[in-house]
Amino acid sequence: MKPSYMLSKEVARKMILVHPPEPRKDLLLASPSHGVYIGKTRFLRTPVFWDPSKLINPHIAVIGITGSGKSYTVKTFLTRASLIWNTNAIILDWVGEYEPWVKQAGGKVINLAKERLNILDLVGVQKRSRIKQIISALDILLDLKSYPNERDEIEDALEAVYYGKNAKKAKNDAGPSKMRPTLADVVKILEEAGRKKSARLLKRFTTEGTDFFAGTSTMDIKKLTSSGLVCIDLHGLPSEEMRSLAGLTILQYIKELMRSEGMQPDNKKVKLFVVLDEAWKIAQDERSDVITIVREGRKYNFSLVIATQNPTDMHKTIFSNIGSVFVLRIILKEFRDYVRNSIGYSDFIDGEISKFGVGDAAVNMIFAERQTRVMTFLMDKIDGEEPLLIYKIRGGEMIIEVEREQFVRMLYEIGLNEGQLNLIKNEFSKGDGLVDGEQLVAILEKFGYARPSIISFLRQLGIDEKNLIRVFSLVRMRKATKGVVNVVLEEDND
Ligand SMILES: Nc1ncnc2c1ncn2[C@@H]1O[C@H](COP(=O)(O)OP(=O)(O)O)[C@@H](O)[C@H]1O
Ligand SMILES: [Mg+2]
Repeated sequence: MKPSYMLSKEVARKMILVHPPEPRKDLLLASPSHGVYIGKTRFLRTPVFWDPSKLINPHIAVIGITGSGKSYTVKTFLTRASLIWNTNAIILDWVGEYEPWVKQAGGKVINLAKERLNILDLVGVQKRSRIKQIISALDILLDLKSYPNERDEIEDALEAVYYGKNAKKAKNDAGPSKMRPTLADVVKILEEAGRKKSARLLKRFTTEGTDFFAGTSTMDIKKLTSSGLVCIDLHGLPSEEMRSLAGLTILQYIKELMRSEGMQPDNKKVKLFVVLDEAWKIAQDERSDVITIVREGRKYNFSLVIATQNPTDMHKTIFSNIGSVFVLRIILKEFRDYVRNSIGYSDFIDGEISKFGVGDAAVNMIFAERQTRVMTFLMDKIDGEEPLLIYKIRGGEMIIEVEREQFVRMLYEIGLNEGQLNLIKNEFSKGDGLVDGEQLVAILEKFGYARPSIISFLRQLGIDEKNLIRVFSLVRMRKATKGVVNVVLEEDND
């Protein structure tokens, strides 16, 4: 490296330390019961907490290319929020990637492909409003506005099932659970009236095998919004259209619940996180209730968390109503420009965003306190937690359990590099999380560690003297019998 280059880099670094482009410490810091820890700022290493009482609203967007760490960020955030606040969250999971994590975190997973969601259920709404909502969902999904006749016919049919003669009849001769009309009844009315085209538009949602929205509901949305972490897995539904109808319907119900619960005291304690990951279709339409929730959520303490790889899919209103934006790696100039125009940051940050590694983020937080300027600052790798990832090390007759991240940190501390760490992680994944002590010793010796430092490392892990002796006698035996330590290790010598 040329000295002049190093010098200018050094100067730049000093400049940054004198005028750090980071918000004041007191805005970022919070007591662990008030804020969710996210990670540290890049320059001053200030811990960053997400504290809704300091922010202008509780909404969050996470933007970045596939693999940049969006879902990881959301999961880490929700895990911590649920630990400190026992928070409620509804995750609309398009891709079906949240299930294992939600289960680990003690939450509930609803597989929508195995449930029924009767879209005619009122869930506390007036019939008239529910008709409007259903029509609005169909407007978005079927572009119903382009078929004004069919739109009217469907609306009439909805009125008929709610208010008409048939509705009354159903009430009389069915039990309380069966008296609710379903979309199948709507299709029947349309068919009986010879309104074939309208019937056909709706039939895609009622044909056997795809009648997720036409049966009696098997899920209680209201209850789900107060049941801790809940993942509604939509990926088993057969089409994007179905996933969107489910998403839109669930959001409509959530919106109604939000409004019916009324304005919340100004404590800013989030009542419900509504999480949308890769929900492009319903995030880009201004008629969808994503918009209502982001607009009105603040006064009801409802928080929208939205993650997307394509920021231009996100309706402008969403963008302008979000108090915390996490920009992970974005490469495409068009996308970077769009984000930059929406939240604003320097050329320097723009350049960094295109070079980010996994989990690195530029964060824009709008604080409630009036500030001279709004800030976008850099954070190194969002500090994640992967709950319940435990490594086991068999040391003689005992098995030591150690949390993976902790173990990796300990290895870092004794000086292992990234490649060496990966090799050890590999060993653990091959052994389903379990590695023999003597194997670990062999690897560390191979990396050039002397006996005394290996011994102190194993002690630090909690292996007692008796078992240390066992481990090392096994190491000796292996060497005597095999001559070599391990075949896999040889692969690393590239
Ligand atoms: N901050 C982070 N620290 C460590 N690993 C991360 C981090 N962010 C993401 N990863 C890992 O990178 C991979 C991709 O992350 P993911 O959240 O699925 O990306 P995205 O949702 O943006 O496509 C996952 O294996 C995840 O565990
Ligand atoms: Mg993802």
